[in-house]
Amino acid sequence: MQITCSKGDILQSQADLIVIGVYENEDWDNPFLTRVNELINGKLTKLAKTQEFSGKIEESLLLSAKNGIASDYLLILGLGSQTANDLIGFRDACGIAVQTARRLGSQIIAIEFFGEDSDTFQATATAQAMAESFLIASYNFDVYKTKKDLSTITAVTIIGENSHDVKKAKNGIEKARLIADGVTVARDLVNTPAQDMTPTRLSQVAKEITQISKGSVKIKLFDKEKCKKKNMNAFLAVAQGSNEPPFFIELIYKPSKPAKKIIALVGKGITFDSGGLSLKPGQHMETMKCDMAGAATVLGVFSTLARLNPRVEIHGYIAATENMPSGNAIRPGDIVCASNNTTIEIANTDAEGRLTLADAFIQAQKIKPDYLVDLATLTGACMVALGEEVAGLMSNNRDFATTLLEKAQTAGELLWELPLVASYDKLIKSEVADVKNIPSVPYGGVLTAGLFLQRFIGPNQIWAHIDIAGPAFAEREFASYLTKGATGYGVRTLIKWIESM
Ligand code: BES
Ligand code: ZN
Ligand code: ZN
Repeated sequence: MQITCSKGDILQSQADLIVIGVYENEDWDNPFLTRVNELINGKLTKLAKTQEFSGKIEESLLLSAKNGIASDYLLILGLGSQTANDLIGFRDACGIAVQTARRLGSQIIAIEFFGEDSDTFQATATAQAMAESFLIASYNFDVYKTKKDLSTITAVTIIGENSHDVKKAKNGIEKARLIADGVTVARDLVNTPAQDMTPTRLSQVAKEITQISKGSVKIKLFDKEKCKKKNMNAFLAVAQGSNEPPFFIELIYKPSKPAKKIIALVGKGITFDSGGLSLKPGQHMETMKCDMAGAATVLGVFSTLARLNPRVEIHGYIAATENMPSGNAIRPGDIVCASNNTTIEIANTDAEGRLTLADAFIQAQKIKPDYLVDLATLTGACMVALGEEVAGLMSNNRDFATTLLEKAQTAGELLWELPLVASYDKLIKSEVADVKNIPSVPYGGVLTAGLFLQRFIGPNQIWAHIDIAGPAFAEREFASYLTKGATGYGVRTLIKWIESM
């Protein structure tokens, strides 16, 4: 799909579908809407009334275009409040444009450059959000379908009125393409069934990323033997029930100029979570190919770094394994010793993510990163707390938490902070080991998981944990531009943060 921005009169665009936006409470008598009204024979307000359109987010009004309009259809979309100062309405509107074009079989879309008349509008950011939404909304995972879903849209032109803005928009569109490519990498990895997305395959993908990186990304790959030598016994305990060999992956990006900071990104990489001997009930297991979504986000980000070219050194860590029941599997009650000599009582083999992350954290801190961030589909409890669309953030550093929340907000990803309640640490005390992998009470499971992870973070290490159990995989459509299945959650926020450093 080609996306461009040019100056012109949207109503005269040669397209199959022309899309314009209307804010909530917009004056229907303004010059532009008056012109639209004239072109469709004066029926605009009447049609708006019958289709209950008032400019709210998610509202749309589809009209068959007449006379002076150079397309078959005119789609009017609600942009929400003009003063909201965020891009949610724009992103949502572009998603509806894609859905409508697909339904109508439209190939070429011309869309108004939203926000040009608003004070808070920034051309680059707006065009980026619009283009991101178009690219993300038109994603399709049909690798395993014999009949492919044909995506009809070939070109989108964003039509602006001001040539200065059009110039800025081009940079935004370029950035959007880079980000959407990273998001697509993550989505494809998560959507691929666990039978094919094994730890071995994840390692191959990591290798492929180094190959397309023009030398800027390198890899260190540890097999089971190497992990044993490194005493990664918490990670290996999870892996021991599976027939698939585990791998510990480290990706390293170094900028050409001296790095300003060092970042460690850790992604949970359970390619399938059956629960192990603490087997999950069938319904809970159905979507567990998504349990490597944190790893997929890290790989998605790394796939863009050679193009993004940030002035920071970035290390990615993935402890990749399945969590399976078998005669070799770890048992509830077993005690393992992580690579920093902390002993862990495994009371429930389904709380496996934190075991693999423990060894990944220890490894990641060896490079003394300025920041360590982990992304993990860690707890169902996070979904109970925040629902399906919002990720949970826990951090030991106020400024870092604030930065990530702000980056997520501008990137259009929902993130909410949760506390690391120090007094809850007693809930993961073990009678027989240094720590237990599940809490002694059935409440606050997202917090005690965060506290477990914190046990493996050194005293001076700035760290943030993002629990993506909800938003990584959409069991229903989250937004017009975020369809069912893998979402690539986190790629947009992390890239926003990395490029701001
Ligand atoms: N992978 C799951 C968490 C999860 C749940 C991810 C739903 C995505 C959607 C994790 O390994 C898990 O099973 N956690 C347990 C922990 C419990 C045993 C303390 C959970 O949340 O039930
Ligand atoms: Zn689990
Ligand atoms: Zn899991």
